[in-house]
Amino acid sequence: MHNGTSHNPSLLQSLGYIGVKTERFDEWSAFAKDLLGMQVDRPSKRNISLRVDDHAQRLFIEDGRDENVSVTGWEVADANALAKLAAKLSDAGQEVSLEPRIIAEQRRVSELISAKDPLGNRLEFFHGPEQATSPFVAGRALSGFRTGQLGLGHAVLTAENLDAVMPFYTDLLGFRLSDYALRPFKAYFFHLNSRHHSFAIVETGVNGFHHLMVELNSLDDIGQAYDLAHLEENRIGVTLGRHTNDFMTSFYARTPSGFMVEYGWGGRSIDPANWQPFECDYGPSFWGHERSWLGPEKRAEALQLRLDAAALGRRAPDFVRGNK
Ligand SMILES: [Fe+2]
Repeated sequence: MHNGTSHNPSLLQSLGYIGVKTERFDEWSAFAKDLLGMQVDRPSKRNISLRVDDHAQRLFIEDGRDENVSVTGWEVADANALAKLAAKLSDAGQEVSLEPRIIAEQRRVSELISAKDPLGNRLEFFHGPEQATSPFVAGRALSGFRTGQLGLGHAVLTAENLDAVMPFYTDLLGFRLSDYALRPFKAYFFHLNSRHHSFAIVETGVNGFHHLMVELNSLDDIGQAYDLAHLEENRIGVTLGRHTNDFMTSFYARTPSGFMVEYGWGGRSIDPANWQPFECDYGPSFWGHERSWLGPEKRAEALQLRLDAAALGRRAPDFVRGNK
């Protein structure tokens, strides 16, 4: 595994976009605008495009019965990097497709290729995201989303068995391990840039998409969304809390499709060139984050880990926003 000293950057730079297949367009439109505060463009009844920054599109929602994330899109530097990645994947026996112009136009990028991970999750790799011609206008009053070179946020998958899928992400795609936990569930966290993790995978016994994290510039954006989420029954999937590894203060909202969006603030910036991965053996949260998706035994274990962390006075460093 990565020894932390020989820094070998991935061809991937950041999480660029995600796509969702759903039949619940009205719910998605209201959820994205009124709770998450994204900018909603709905060119037709069954087609929604979402913005969070100066990219023309960061999420797209299309017609389908899956009620799930249909694709995660990862940004590379340029056409040369994309060609290198395509060659690397196909040399390793992976099926790679160069997507036609019409798909690139839908994704609002210059060029993209697609592949599948060993679990069948669709991945796209692209360069040249289209820049919007108008400033970002939030769906509700908020301070703004923290993106830039950190990308859209992070994507987290669940897996029946991590061993079957991890080499694809580490050896082929070049995701670098940030840290990992074995209790109360196995979870591995990976970075591509100074965001502590752009990708993670959790062993839950089921293959699927767990959550997309988006980060806001102000803690109050999170608190105000939390109040709004409380107005709706079953909207909150994980209560407000603070993570031990990326220091994110967040809650998780259930999307209309069932997977979750983590709505966070205060994520740490790491230095990928000097980062040393380690086992995080004191649980995933300093406090809070009661997880509705965990069974009662694991929830009890998670609570005990939090109480232990509290008894030991574990806490995140004082928050200082660097400019990374
Ligand atoms: Fe997360």
